[in-house]
Order: sequence, then C-alpha cells, then structure tokens
Amino acid sequence: MKILITGGAGFIGGNHVHYTIEKYPEDTVICVDDLTYAGNMETLEPVFGCKNFHFEKADIADKTAIRAIFEKYRPDCVINYAAESHVDRSIENPGVFLTTNILGTQVLLDAAREFNVSRYHQVSTDEVYGDLPLDRPDLLFTEETPIHTSSPYSASKAGADLLCLAYARTYKMPITISRCSNNYGPYHFPEKLIPLMIINAMQDKPLPVYGKGENVRDWLFVTDHCRAVDLIVRKGTVGEVYNIGGHNERTNIVVVKTILEQLGKSEALINYVTDRPGHDMRYGIDPTKINKELGWFPDTNFETGLSQTIEWYKNNTGWWQNVLDGEYQKYYEKNYGAR
Ligand code: NAD
Ligand code: DAU
Repeated sequence: MKILITGGAGFIGGNHVHYTIEKYPEDTVICVDDLTYAGNMETLEPVFGCKNFHFEKADIADKTAIRAIFEKYRPDCVINYAAESHVDRSIENPGVFLTTNILGTQVLLDAAREFNVSRYHQVSTDEVYGDLPLDRPDLLFTEETPIHTSSPYSASKAGADLLCLAYARTYKMPITISRCSNNYGPYHFPEKLIPLMIINAMQDKPLPVYGKGENVRDWLFVTDHCRAVDLIVRKGTVGEVYNIGGHNERTNIVVVKTILEQLGKSEALINYVTDRPGHDMRYGIDPTKINKELGWFPDTNFETGLSQTIEWYKNNTGWWQNVLDGEYQKYYEKNYGAR
C-alpha cells in the first residue's frame, strides 16, 4: 500500500510514520509537511534512508503542489494529520487555522477524489464535542455527541469534519474520521502542557498552570493513537466516525504534580497564571465503538507512559533544545509574559 501521511514532521504524524515504516516494511510512506514552526525534520531522522520513505515539503492548502504530489505518487490511502494544533495560538491568530485546517482538508479531499484513493482518513479531535461539566463524571463524549466547539482551533477542526462527511455523502468517497483525546509521548512540541512542564521542571523554571489547574484532560500515549488510526484505515468501516481514548482522565494540577514528583522537583515551581479564554473544563471519551468493532484497547497506562516520556525528554535534550529557537521564544514571551 502507498500511504500519504500529512503532518508527518509533527508530533503524532511523526510517530505514525515511525510506526508504519517499522510495522509494514512492504508499504511505501509519502510524508507531506510544510515544516511550520511545529514541523521538525529531526523527528523524521529515524526513517531517513529507508527506501520506502519519501518526504515532500508542501502546504496542504496549496492546490497545485498537492495535485502534483498525488500525480507523482498516486497514493492508495491518505491520512491527514497536518493541522495548526495549538488552542492558545488559535486564540491569538485564528486565520491560519481556517486556511490549513479547513481549506487544506478541502484541497486534500479534492485530490483524493480526483486520484481515486481507496481511503481518506481525517485525524480529528475530541475538542469538536466541546466540553463536559466537572460535576458529571458519568458523562462521556460518544460519536453521537453534537458538535459544539469552544475555540477557533476546535471550530476549524469541526469544519473539516463536516466537510469530510459532506464529501463522503455527496461524492461517495471512502472516508473515515477519528476523534482522539489528548496525546502525550516522544517528539511532543514543548508548547503543549506535558512537554512544557517536563522541560521547565528540568530547567528549574516556573510551571505556568492556567486558572486553578482543575480542568480535566483524558490522556493517551501517542503510539496507542497511531495504532488506532492504522486499524481504522485498514479495518474500519467507510463513512464512520471513531472515538479514540483510554479512560485516563486527570486534572491538570495532578499531571503537573506527578511530573514534579517523577523528576524529584519541588511543587514551589508551580505558578498559577491567568486562565485560557473559553477554557474547556473537561474532556472524556467513550471508546466503546472502537473497542467493540475493531478490538482496539490502549497498551500503555498513564503512569508507564508518563515515565517513558520523561525519560525520552531527559535523553533527547538536543531535540527539544533545537526546537526552543527564536520563533518559539517570541511565542513564549507573548503567551506567558502578560499572564
Ligand atoms: P503538531 O502541531 O505537532 O504537528 C502538525 C504538523 O503539521 C507539523 O509538522 C506542521 O509542520 C504540519 N503542518 C501545519 N500546517 C501545515 C500545512 N498547511 N501544510 C502541511 N503541513 C502543515 O500537531 P499534533 O499534535 O501532532 O496533531 C496532529 C493532528 O492530530 C492534528 O490534526 C490535531 O488536530 C490532531 N489531534 C491532536 C491531539 C493532541 O493531543 N496533540 C489529539 C487529537 C487529535
Ligand atoms: O483533546 C485533544 C486536543 O488536545 C488536541 O486536539 C489539540 O491539538 C491538543 O493541543 C490538545 O489540546 P489542549 O488544549 O487540551 O492541550 P494543551 O496541552 O494546550 O493544554 C492541556 C491543558 O493544560 C489545558 O487544560 C490547558 C492547560 N495548560 C496548557 C498549557 C500550555 C496549562 O495549564 N498551562 C499551559 O502552559
């Protein structure tokens, strides 16, 4: 199979490229990534030199470039991970989120349709369901939960989902969608909660916790997400949406304190800062459908996954130090300076 993976120089797409090359040496992987601030060629270093790996630098919203790539490789399958993915950045600058996440998806769908791909998979997010109240732990997001978005990021992801469903119905395209909860693991860009807290704690810098730290996220180790997407692409039913999650809900403050404990650092590093505007309270995924239909369950529990992740950041200081370049420093100052 020839699989075109977009966003493969990013966190989850990169892990998916590694996973596919290792598990399916007979497949060909074409990675398309525009190398935005979040894209990092060092993430792809483990697969450089593999004969079945190809890299193309391109913007998914660039119709001409994307059409040329489809013409060159004629992929059987497309997995769209490419996106602007950070909620805080979407609050500062929504425009690029609409361009990449919605128009970029449309360009990929049009190319997939023209070149008759046998599967187009859209990597979506649980954030399209909005949030759940803290005092109703019995409530979870199912695939039937109405779309109800809070941030420009989640609105742009929901727009892309609706476009995929419309293309599936109107053009009878073989499309699947997955909606996963929060991921963590190796190669995670340090602007997101877990890598930011690990790196700041290792450097004895303050750990900026938004609001009271009581918001709840449902954490999943990244390889479990990649394995689920792979299963949906190969065995899932066309036209279906699958939630992905492992019942691993934690408040942010518990996550931050666990990281400090594992690194042997003091809780005095915690710095409560101004909350994120429109901050979603709680995410909680009901994964019954993927459990029952595809037999998928997570392999890695939170405690093991978090300690593996901390070890990875300890052993790969070069990777994240290179990421903390001028552009990221400017973002850090802007996002946290005034909080
Ligand atoms: P990321 O920000 O780490 O990586 C995104 C990648 O996409 C980068 O390599 C970037 O260069 C590339 N990219 C951005 N704009 C592009 C464009 N216009 N053209 C081509 N490439 C472009 O993101 P991530 O955390 O790995 O998330 C990947 C996908 O998974 C996203 O679609 C996101 O919505 C979804 N998702 C993420 C999580 C999570 O917890 N991180 C959970 C559920 C779903
Ligand atoms: O649920 C899936 C989503 O998870 C994905 O669709 C997004 O792409 C991904 O970025 C992630 O979104 P979140 O907003 O949940 O992730 P983030 O790491 O930005 O924040 C996690 C929680 O931690 C959230 O409640 C905000 C809080 N936070 C975050 C940062 C960066 C802090 O308290 N301090 C911080 O400095």
